[in-house]
Amino acid sequence: MASVEIVFAKYIIKIMSSLSIIILAAGKGTRMKSDLPKVMHKVAGREMLNMVIDEASKLNPQDISIVVSEDFKQYEKSIIESHQEVKISFVIQKERKGTADAVKIGLKNLKKPAKKILILYGDTPLIEEKTLQAMLKKIDEDIALCVLGFDCAADNAYGRLVVDINGNLEKIIEYKDASTKERKITLCNSGVVAVREDWLGRLLQKVENNNAAGEFYLTDIVGIARKISLQCGFIQTDESEVLGVNSRMELARIESIKQNKLRKKHMEAGVTMLDCDSIYFSYDTKIAHDVVINPHVVFGKNVVVEKDVEIKSFCHIEGCEIASGAVVGPFARLRPQTKIGKNSRIGNFVEIKKSQIKEGAKINHLSYIGDSEIGRHANIGAGVITCNYDGYNKFKTEIGDEVFVGSNTALVAPIKVQARAVIGAGSVITKNVASGDMALARSKQVNLEKGGEKYHRNKSKNN
Ligand code: UD1
Ligand code: CA
Repeated sequence: MASVEIVFAKYIIKIMSSLSIIILAAGKGTRMKSDLPKVMHKVAGREMLNMVIDEASKLNPQDISIVVSEDFKQYEKSIIESHQEVKISFVIQKERKGTADAVKIGLKNLKKPAKKILILYGDTPLIEEKTLQAMLKKIDEDIALCVLGFDCAADNAYGRLVVDINGNLEKIIEYKDASTKERKITLCNSGVVAVREDWLGRLLQKVENNNAAGEFYLTDIVGIARKISLQCGFIQTDESEVLGVNSRMELARIESIKQNKLRKKHMEAGVTMLDCDSIYFSYDTKIAHDVVINPHVVFGKNVVVEKDVEIKSFCHIEGCEIASGAVVGPFARLRPQTKIGKNSRIGNFVEIKKSQIKEGAKINHLSYIGDSEIGRHANIGAGVITCNYDGYNKFKTEIGDEVFVGSNTALVAPIKVQARAVIGAGSVITKNVASGDMALARSKQVNLEKGGEKYHRNKSKNN
């Protein structure tokens, strides 16, 4: 399809979807004890707010309005850039007057809100598209609003959903304001609400702040809707999907849930993990089938692994593409902008940065390769170091196909070693080497006849 047509098709889908989303993210997050806004803390390498937007975007909304606190300005650009597929705007809630006040501000910020409004929290990052779809479907069935609930029998301070005998939602009562009997209800409020736009403004208008917290509660819109005989519904999900983050402990819990989801996803796609609990993924890690990952491997952002690769234990890999048949590790560190070619071998204690390692090349032991190109089937001996930095600038090292670099060689960049050249062990290479030549750059060896015997005699006399 031509790009104009794609843009047009997306436009049509958005009109049909007629959905606007409001994300509440103005919380101070005091308990995080952090300079960073709470919603910018990461789970599996992705900021929580971005995770919520990622999932929300799958619904093809017409627009997303994000309610933030005053200190958020510096993060807005990166969030918009990371979501070019959807129209995002930010609005500031100056004073934290409660969730209903925040929604009011978020709603006003939408120039022409769509027919359906979905309200999400920026600090509840595990929410899934399919649950949101189910909620939107529910408000298509002619009810005014649908709340997402979950069952939790353990002691907690969530709001409670009060449901009548026919299963209709009657009201939400905040824990602080609930009676002992109401506190025994195990059906809790996640905070996520889907509501019809034609009612939302009117309901919000009637919310008051005469409650234990002195806040304008969004949850009150249910009781208000019922008073004017509007029907309200709810759907239920698992608590783990709607867990919020208020502290570093809760952040760690969410990280662990997310990692388990990522492990499951990769295993279902045909990846073998010898001890999956010790392998950590980034939200964007891409791994083909029949890849084997040994215990204790960490994937940073932006890694693509093709099929039939083996990653041995204790590797740290980020910003890197690994082609099929390669074997990496144990103890390898692959840094951003690195490409590992087909069937190549990257062994223990090897660090590679911003380099291209071509098909069948071997860098098996104790090397640093930076800003380099290593040719096909080249052999890089133990302890070879590219000296890519002079303290001011970085320079490139180019190694041709089938070059043999002897152990403990320092390659002082910028330098080119052409195809099939051989470099003797222990060399410090400062001049280019032509194709097929041999380069030796080390001090000459001196052998003193019986010098060793003399040495031993002198030493034993003195001791
Ligand atoms: C809210 C719900 C509660 C539910 C719980 C689920 C209300 C009144 N209560 O309580 O029923 O069980 O979530 O976690 O809605 N926020 C703003 N501006 C504000 C206040 C809040 O942006 O003025 C944002 C927060 O950043 C947060 C979200 O809204 O992302 C929820 O606010 P929070 O104060 O955490 O609500 P809870 O008391 O947890
Ligand atoms: Ca909360």
